[in-house]
Amino acid sequence: MMLSFVLGFVGLLVTGTSGVDTAQQPPSQFDVPHDGRLVGGGRCSGWIQMKHQGKWRNMDLRNELAFGSYKVQYARVVCQQTGCGSVNTVFARKMDRNEDPAWQVSFYCLGNERNFSECRKHTRKSVHYKNTTVFALDVICSESLRLTDGRGVCSGYLNVKTELGWAPVCNYGFDSGAMDVLCRELDCGPPVYHSQSFQSIEKPEVLQPFQQFQCFGNESLHQDCKIMVNTSCTSPAYLHCESTKFRMVDGIDQCKGIIQLKLDGEWRVMEDPWRKMTAKDSEEICRKLECGSHISTSVHYLQHSLPSWSVDRECSHSRRSFCWTWETGFSNTLLNVSCSDNVRLSSWREACAGKLEVRRGLSWSPVCHSVFSKEEASVVCWELGCGFAETSKVASGVNDNQDWSQDFTCNGTENTLDECRSSPMGSMQQECQATFITCKERPARPRVTIQTTHESVEERKYTSLKRGGRFLVSCSQNTPYTIHSFHLRLAAVQEQGPEWSELAVDNTATFFFARANETHQGRFTCYYTFAFRQGVFSEANSFSLSVQESSDLRLVDGNSRCAGQLELTQEGDWMPVSYQHSWSQKEAGVVCRQLECGDAASTRRVDKQEVSMWRFYSDCDGSEHALMDCGTATKWTSSSTVEVICTDVLPKPNITVWWSKASKNTVITWGYSFRIDCLVKTQFPGGHFVLVFSGLGQSHSHMKRTVNHSATFYFPSADFTHTGNYRCQYNNFVYNQNFTSESQTLTVTVKEGSEVFLDNGAPREDGNSSCAGLVQVLYDNKTRFLSAAPAVWDKPHASVVCRQLRCGSVISTREVQLQKEESVWRFFSDCGGSETALLDCGSVKSWVSSTGVEVVCTGEALLYNIRSYMGFFFFNTNIEAPSY
Ligand SMILES: *[C@@H]1O[C@H](CO)[C@@H](O)[C@H](O)[C@H]1NC(C)=O
Ligand SMILES: *[C@@H]1O[C@H](CO)[C@@H](O)[C@H](O)[C@H]1NC(C)=O
Ligand SMILES: *[C@@H]1O[C@H](CO)[C@@H](O)[C@H](O)[C@H]1NC(C)=O
Ligand SMILES: *[C@@H]1O[C@H](CO)[C@@H](O)[C@H](O)[C@H]1NC(C)=O
Ligand SMILES: *[C@@H]1O[C@H](CO)[C@@H](O)[C@H](O)[C@H]1NC(C)=O
Ligand SMILES: *[C@@H]1O[C@H](CO)[C@@H](O)[C@H](O)[C@H]1NC(C)=O
Ligand SMILES: *[C@@H]1O[C@H](CO)[C@@H](O)[C@H](O)[C@H]1NC(C)=O
Ligand SMILES: *[C@@H]1O[C@H](CO)[C@@H](O)[C@H](O)[C@H]1NC(C)=O
Ligand SMILES: *[C@@H]1O[C@H](CO)[C@@H](O)[C@H](O)[C@H]1NC(C)=O
Ligand SMILES: *[C@@H]1O[C@H](CO)[C@@H](O)[C@H](O)[C@H]1NC(C)=O
Repeated sequence: MMLSFVLGFVGLLVTGTSGVDTAQQPPSQFDVPHDGRLVGGGRCSGWIQMKHQGKWRNMDLRNELAFGSYKVQYARVVCQQTGCGSVNTVFARKMDRNEDPAWQVSFYCLGNERNFSECRKHTRKSVHYKNTTVFALDVICSESLRLTDGRGVCSGYLNVKTELGWAPVCNYGFDSGAMDVLCRELDCGPPVYHSQSFQSIEKPEVLQPFQQFQCFGNESLHQDCKIMVNTSCTSPAYLHCESTKFRMVDGIDQCKGIIQLKLDGEWRVMEDPWRKMTAKDSEEICRKLECGSHISTSVHYLQHSLPSWSVDRECSHSRRSFCWTWETGFSNTLLNVSCSDNVRLSSWREACAGKLEVRRGLSWSPVCHSVFSKEEASVVCWELGCGFAETSKVASGVNDNQDWSQDFTCNGTENTLDECRSSPMGSMQQECQATFITCKERPARPRVTIQTTHESVEERKYTSLKRGGRFLVSCSQNTPYTIHSFHLRLAAVQEQGPEWSELAVDNTATFFFARANETHQGRFTCYYTFAFRQGVFSEANSFSLSVQESSDLRLVDGNSRCAGQLELTQEGDWMPVSYQHSWSQKEAGVVCRQLECGDAASTRRVDKQEVSMWRFYSDCDGSEHALMDCGTATKWTSSSTVEVICTDVLPKPNITVWWSKASKNTVITWGYSFRIDCLVKTQFPGGHFVLVFSGLGQSHSHMKRTVNHSATFYFPSADFTHTGNYRCQYNNFVYNQNFTSESQTLTVTVKEGSEVFLDNGAPREDGNSSCAGLVQVLYDNKTRFLSAAPAVWDKPHASVVCRQLRCGSVISTREVQLQKEESVWRFFSDCGGSETALLDCGSVKSWVSSTGVEVVCTGEALLYNIRSYMGFFFFNTNIEAPSY
């Protein structure tokens, strides 16, 4: 596929390989004996053959292929010899499986030689036999146009072929229209006007009468122009076309695709190895292609490289418009350029804004503003890949004598202006002015207003909300288009936050939030979408919300934030609320809810001396979340105020578990002692804690008075019945009522495991233990013998070991000599003998010794796995209840 466009133009040439066919040679009618010809095409096209040592053979340019500009010189020599005109196109090509030998050449030509022998003469290079693959040059020469004494293939004094031979063209009448036609016919770039460069070039000798041209500029061949003889003409016409020409290949139309460049007669892919091309350059390429506005440029990667013209680095430093020079090279990147076909925004300054013009034949026509709507403008911006039409207005400048384009009618959903309905302008008697469109990548961001019960703020970046208060976020945008919906999104730090959407009414949407809480904190963005086109999102407006404790209301003098006399503030003035007959449990309930103190337990009138207060006019039904949501307050003087006691007057207690290793880990090893602490932070004296337990098949509770607002429940030896959920319940009698608050639930697990082993000298299975042997202790991840020396080690200590290992009771214990002195654990004891875990009543320290202790117990070890774990409950019913 990739080569298809490279090989494109040689389609007209027969790609045969055996070329020695003297019969095809055109009859010689030239004075100079010739040694070059073109075969395989017409008279003026084909691949080059050369006559050497009397034999015509394919010319093999193997060594010369890399040098781009030499190729066109061979072509000029061969076009000249064969009586054809200027070189139009060259193309180097590999001919495989060549049966006949070719002439491989290592000379090069300057282009003005009359035959190849002259080229050879001045380079003193030879011709070789060649037998294998041939690198041939395909050439297309012009049949009837010739540029002489010029530079390159696109400029020079112009000759046209007449019946009498090549005749010069008169400079008189050779205007821009004629230049347009001739540059196009020669397959060069557009004409370069006002060029003085040719003045230094010697004028050719005139042998034939001058031909005088008269062209409109829209003719496809010079023969379509009016041509006459001017015998009195004095100066010849010099044609100067741009030597570079662009084209698009492999695209859907002539304005989209892979960009190719023709230079020195050769089409190659264009490369931008230094990534120097700017949007302005792309815009210029589109203009040279006679397309509309530039839409996009992307790079396409190939697996193999192709011959390329690359933008020269030196030249692209000086950024005069299109000051590019080109280097021959090989590239594996292609430039994929997209220009609009029939629509353009012409502007000197920027892409995506300008005077709207629509193609009409070979020219571009402006569009009448009075018949152009916002829908049409949005289609134009979309088609040009420019996003969204921000404005469409009358273009400044002169508008007379315009050839107005047709009138378009779009509904805004079309992808191109061509898809819209159109009718000729002629029928409409409109006063016309040109249209100027400004596109924007996205529609402008909406306005945001945040409304709370206290204020309404517009376009503020940070707003602080009161907890529990209601608030509104409204987003709106003043645009001529119809907004479909608004979207409000809360940006979470990591993941996607929640998003709310509302259909727009009059280009506005309001998001309602009944109660502010911490889930409404963070950075919000609001944006909108349009009804007519999916995928157009506006820019987002962002703002941050924070939620603060409700601070317009408080309960004072009550030892708790949830009990006391009610005070309100408005603009900073904290004052009590006067008691009214209308004050009831309903209003108290709203107060407790607003303070997040549960429900109202009681409310009553409290008398004091007369002071300034708030008089509250209530309209509450009791379900409100904030008092000021259902009433108003005015200043007042009174001697009675309101007391409110809420149900959550007691704060929640904390629950923690501790066991002998001072660990808060809730997984406790069997046999160890542990304790559970209940703690409450409160001003109230007294009260008691209840530790509520629910475990496997049983639940019970234990009560303790508080001491310093806390209570501790001891468990001397953890066993499996202690596995379960614990809660601290704090009870106190305050304000003549019993109140209760509960801690969170703490889950405690008792697991099998011991750091003490008896080493009977035999290797043991994992988890197995024996009931007699040397005592070993695992501590600090090291298992070592326990040393008695120099501390006390006796039968009560040994009985702790037997109990911990569930080996029954102790039979004997003694100190023994180890085989050698080694690292041991020395034991510091605080044991009485009734404990269930050795390290629960003592600690160990690293020591070097040669003595250990041996313990012999009565029973075999019981092995506890999940099955025996349940069995254990069954037979072990005499569990000691914890003492309180
Ligand atoms: C090439 O042209 C020169 C004259 O310029 C002539 O002397 C010579 O014979 C020609 N060679 C061939 C092979 O035609
Ligand atoms: C070309 O090469 C082939 C095979 O390599 C050989 O048979 C043939 O004779 C050669 N022809 C010439 C003219 O050298
Ligand atoms: C070329 O332009 C002239 C004048 O503008 C017009 O009369 C003529 O029809 C055009 N010819 C073509 C082929 O478009
Ligand atoms: C011929 O060309 C000359 C200029 O070189 C010009 O003055 C004259 O008018 C031309 N003749 C005609 C018949 O156009
Ligand atoms: C060029 O770009 C267009 C879109 O801009 C894409 O559809 C097309 O496939 C591209 N062509 C190549 C060869 O990458
Ligand atoms: C808009 O016009 C296009 C093409 O004319 C049509 O397919 C489409 O249904 C129209 N949409 C609406 C919403 O009218
Ligand atoms: C916060 O308010 C939302 C409703 O706006 C509610 O769904 C959520 O449960 C509340 N969260 C807390 C912690 O109160
Ligand atoms: C309760 O525990 C939490 C978390 O462990 C801690 O932040 C808080 O200060 C504790 N409260 C009391 C009264 O100890
Ligand atoms: C409060 O609780 C205590 C103990 O549970 C009980 O004796 C007393 O009657 C209760 N008082 C009231 C007012 O309910
Ligand atoms: C304890 O030792 C074992 C193996 O000797 C090792 O895998 C483990 O990471 C150690 N643990 C600690 C806490 O060092």
